[in-house]
Amino acid sequence: MPERLDVELGERSYPIWIGDDVLAQADRLFASLTLHHGIVIADAQVAAIYGEPLVETLRGDARIDLLQVPSGEASKSVEQADRLWRALRALGADRKSTIVALGGGVVGDLAGFVAATYARGIELVQIPTTLLAQVDSSVGGKTAINLPNAKNMVGAFWQPSAVLIDVTTLRTLPDREYRSGLAEVVKYGVILDADFFAYLESHAQALAARDPSVLIPVIRRCCELKASVVSADERETTGLRAILNYGHTFAHAFEAVAGYGELLHGEAVSIGMTCAARLAFRLGRVDEEFVRRQDRLVEQLVLPSALPRPLPLEETIGATLRDKKVEAGKLRWILPSELGKVERVADVPEDLVKEVFLEAGCQKP
Ligand SMILES: NC(=O)c1ccc[n+]([C@@H]2O[C@H](COP(=O)([O-])OP(=O)(O)OC[C@H]3O[C@@H](n4cnc5c(N)ncnc54)[C@H](O)[C@@H]3O)[C@@H](O)[C@H]2O)c1
Ligand SMILES: [Zn+2]
Repeated sequence: MPERLDVELGERSYPIWIGDDVLAQADRLFASLTLHHGIVIADAQVAAIYGEPLVETLRGDARIDLLQVPSGEASKSVEQADRLWRALRALGADRKSTIVALGGGVVGDLAGFVAATYARGIELVQIPTTLLAQVDSSVGGKTAINLPNAKNMVGAFWQPSAVLIDVTTLRTLPDREYRSGLAEVVKYGVILDADFFAYLESHAQALAARDPSVLIPVIRRCCELKASVVSADERETTGLRAILNYGHTFAHAFEAVAGYGELLHGEAVSIGMTCAARLAFRLGRVDEEFVRRQDRLVEQLVLPSALPRPLPLEETIGATLRDKKVEAGKLRWILPSELGKVERVADVPEDLVKEVFLEAGCQKP
């Protein structure tokens, strides 16, 4: 039996099921849902491996359809959302239909947004199949599509009714995608849980090898931590949820300037966390030991700590100011004060930010 944990959000609370080989039990785990017409949405790569078996499992008395989108970030577009809305209409989907998002964060965000908007919002179930989606994007209810040059610009908060995490699906995930997801795992340790960080240090090898006996507790802890933050600040209004953006102001700038797709999100986050730790050290907020431990874990998990090619300094700094986290023109950095604790810090001197960007591999013209 898979493990269950709950995201507490009043009447919008939902269970997260985590286990080994649980996709085959999807029908039983979703039994509490009123599944009379399910539409599984998956990208082509994931549909080819897991699409039909899932449709077969879910098909009891319910009608189950499968819709596909091309793999990749480009599918988080108005065009694909439009295609899916029309396809749902053609399939006769109504307010009692359920969308099942099967795949990584791209499908989760796109299918989630379509669920949030079709017929003013229909039921959504998340079945994340990348590590990033299992520890991060499938939990918390953020859904979005991109506008040209503006990532996640159009979206909605739309909580799923359930999340089903089958760690065996990670076996087919390409190595680079898997490692990229580990960056978010490290993030949770740094921002919220020093003991978890220590656990990651002592299990780094097993984690890098995708050992299920380590993966299940690790993914479970990440989901617990994310769920606790989301429960306390569902819509990012108190500032608490913003701590999940540790390393992300840097990362978003790297992703935008390098061109989306060159760096995987987790790779950018890994370099971004390295920058954030160095910035915190320069500000006297953390000691050398903190920086050393984070650097070492990043290295053990074969994550990057510097840019693979130089990016222009001024443009990259400029990109941080376009980050959505800028409030009233003021950028707040999420910086650690010790392992397991971060704070939002305003008024960071720009020359220190520059030094850190240069150290990460940015270049002056
Ligand atoms: N909503 C949120 O809170 C949130 C949080 C973080 C990231 N995101 C979003 O998530 C997206 C990135 O998600 P991602 O990293 O999962 O990328 P992704 O969804 O593009 O998946 C990566 C690749 O892996 C393939 N794949 C997925 N599962 C597989 C499996 N089990 N076996 C083999 N191949 C598999 C996919 O086809 C794709 O080619 C970004 O758009 C980002 O904005 C959202
Ligand atoms: Zn992230």
